[in-house]
Amino acid sequence: MIPANKQHTCVFGLGWGDEGKGKVVDLLCPAFGAVVRFNGGANAGHTVCVAGKKFALHLLPAGVLHDAALGVIGPGVVVDPIALLSEIDELEARGVAVTGRLKISDRAHLVMPYHKLEDQLGERQVSDKARIGTTARGIGPCYADKMRRHAAFRFSDLADESGFDSRVRQVVGERKRLLDMVYDTEVDLDADKVLADMSTARARLKPCVCDTAALLHQLMDDGRTILFEGANGLLLDIDHGTYPFVTSSSTGPHGIGCGAGVSPLVVTRRIGVVKSYSTRVGSGPFMSELTDETGDRIREAGHEYGTTTGRPRRCGWFDAVACRYGVRLSAATDIALMHLDTLSGFDRVGICIGYRLNGETVDTLPADAACQSQLEPVMEYHSGWSEDLTAIRSFDELPATAVRYLERLESLIGAPITLVGVGPDRSQTLLRGDLTDLIDVPEPTNA
Ligand code: GDP
Ligand code: IMO
Ligand code: MG
Repeated sequence: MIPANKQHTCVFGLGWGDEGKGKVVDLLCPAFGAVVRFNGGANAGHTVCVAGKKFALHLLPAGVLHDAALGVIGPGVVVDPIALLSEIDELEARGVAVTGRLKISDRAHLVMPYHKLEDQLGERQVSDKARIGTTARGIGPCYADKMRRHAAFRFSDLADESGFDSRVRQVVGERKRLLDMVYDTEVDLDADKVLADMSTARARLKPCVCDTAALLHQLMDDGRTILFEGANGLLLDIDHGTYPFVTSSSTGPHGIGCGAGVSPLVVTRRIGVVKSYSTRVGSGPFMSELTDETGDRIREAGHEYGTTTGRPRRCGWFDAVACRYGVRLSAATDIALMHLDTLSGFDRVGICIGYRLNGETVDTLPADAACQSQLEPVMEYHSGWSEDLTAIRSFDELPATAVRYLERLESLIGAPITLVGVGPDRSQTLLRGDLTDLIDVPEPTNA
């Protein structure tokens, strides 16, 4: 058994995103030499609350909030350089020095302004039923260009200034004609403006750009451990999620190989993050959704509004089938169960333990979105608890009904719950097993 402080570790979402990954990554950071984003882009919104201060990170790994850790944006991330610069500026204005501790892969692709336009226009064009409800950050179109290859731009391309500029002029011209024609509009896309922005990005980000995979391998050779920070969630995975209502990247530990250039086989600790209920933002099937006042009550109690877009999140009971699906896919070694505090005060708490489709019982996710949307949840209910959990600091202090709920979840999803969130702050965290060796939960502050 490898000791906890020697294991390369991945934190990733088991749901449709927003599970509380930012908080878990932040807690783990001090034990690691680097924190690495390997998928997604500015569609992510990872919240970290420290002593009453709230940080929302979109492209930057949560590690940048810690002086000791290096923050790495891997080759599998699609980076909007303008969004990245404004995120850096915002953090630096709040006293967090970022640039010196940030490394960006020279293989990472650039999200260009026309990717964002295409994302928005494409969504507007389709029927309500077909609309994905994207974050409009240009994620899908950028990954599509990456796969198509001929019109894609990577950070390494910025180095050849004149070659980059002439190719950008050509692609911007083509895209403008295409978007104007397909969407019967006149898009605001000007090559000079795009090049001016890219030139700023080139100058400011140049010191950060490098071969990040080589850097990570060097760190590992030197005996440092690496923390991989997944974005989005397994139910939004491009291959394994509720397609087509998904994002465009590989969102779990399986994404580390392509997204960071490190074999997932070396990542022996895989911490799947999930809430003690379910949420989803954007369209798509949601098997245990509550469209009644119980759902509204969870939304208000959990402050369930999007970190990136501010949209209200859809809420429902815990879906043990979907969670077990994610646990199997990722071979999760640990579960971080967040927002247990949010369920205080409910007379009963529900768990979806199966689905029914056309009278038949189904215990995994069918591929087809139409089938997924017809799945009826098979529910079981447990007694709730009335106690406020936000000041609790150990598993032993949890009310008996909450403990029974956790035990039932563990038996259904097939992995141990070793971290429980009882509030947004770093200090509001309960730990079990060897995570206690790895995480130093701070004392609450009155800030
Ligand atoms: P991420 O995208 O997975 O990092 O999650 P988000 O930051 O988008 O959303 C999670 C929200 O829940 C944030 O506002 C966090 O501050 C908050 N949060 C995280 N863990 C807990 C918890 O255990 N209890 C409560 N009440 N809030 C939490
Ligand atoms: P974090 O990392 C919640 C959802 C969008 C939409 C779908 C596709 O904060 O958990 P995209 O813009 O990626 O093409 O949108 O995926 N989505 C997220 N939902 N949290 C996220 O990230 C998300 N990233 C994408 O709402 O339904
Ligand atoms: Mg989020």
